[in-house]
Amino acid sequence: MFLILKDYGLNAPFNRKYSNKLLYGSFKTDFCLVTERMEEGSETAVVVKNLVKRFGAFTAVDGISFEINKGEVFGLIGPNGAGKTTTLRIISTLLPPTSGEVRVFGNDILRDADKIRRIISYLAEEAGTYRNISGKEYLSIIARIYFDSEEASKAVEEAIEFSGLGDRINDKMKTYSKGMKRRIQIARVLMTKPKLAILDEPTAGLDVFHAQYIRNIIKKYAENGGTVILSSHNMLEVEYLCSRVALMHQGHIVIQDKPQAIKNRLNASNLEEAFVKVVAS
Ligand SMILES: Nc1ncnc2c1ncn2[C@@H]1O[C@H](COP(=O)(O)OP(=O)(O)OP(=O)(O)O)[C@@H](O)[C@H]1O
Ligand SMILES: [Mg+2]
Repeated sequence: MFLILKDYGLNAPFNRKYSNKLLYGSFKTDFCLVTERMEEGSETAVVVKNLVKRFGAFTAVDGISFEINKGEVFGLIGPNGAGKTTTLRIISTLLPPTSGEVRVFGNDILRDADKIRRIISYLAEEAGTYRNISGKEYLSIIARIYFDSEEASKAVEEAIEFSGLGDRINDKMKTYSKGMKRRIQIARVLMTKPKLAILDEPTAGLDVFHAQYIRNIIKKYAENGGTVILSSHNMLEVEYLCSRVALMHQGHIVIQDKPQAIKNRLNASNLEEAFVKVVAS
């Protein structure tokens, strides 16, 4: 139990059962399970209005606003220290805002935090793993929090598949490389079928092959009705995945639009060039 508490903290949706709610597809052909959980609620997944976060006298997020539609992959980009992680942590209910409004599927992050924690899953920038249990044991523990035993074993098998770890799933996590740990964490986040997946640099540290593999998983997740907000420093990834992007700089959103529209507006041939133009100006 300590393990679960330590790992999930505020996000622990203890004893939640989704029996009879799951409409399983095959993970091999279509890894995304469609759940009632993902289908409930309004079409606007996230509303952020005039959000401010101060740490003492320092303002990390300075009055940002954006909305994310259900089924969208929305990207936050910006230089180091721009405020991306802070914003994602606030949406995840892990960090209270100084002021402003944030709603997730109609639920207010302060008043309805418990409800939000039941429908989101958060991949932290530096999510840790447990040294002395295997990847499979880890996924099984998480799955048992969310699902009845039959669904749990199915969910674990599916998560193992998209972790791509093969037989290494039975090894203790202390033997995993950085990228392998990341893949286990992404598998953990999507296995629980959140209505909103909040992914802070999901492919950071992954090799090209596995990064592409994970991108495809995220894309299909959204195509199947899930909503995603992610941050990334990889502009190719953002262009490939995101329907809309907000570029943050020094706590502000400098520009937000479709990737192509951002390129057009900034007269840039790719998103990286657009990024550099904004940050350098
Ligand atoms: N707990 C904290 N206490 C004080 N300052 C903080 C805290 N968390 C973040 N900050 C500051 O807020 C600013 C935004 O940090 P944040 O982690 O949100 O940036 P980021 O856009 O995610 O950057 P990166 O691309 O490096 O991950 C930074 O200047 C950071 O030092
Ligand atoms: Mg960050």
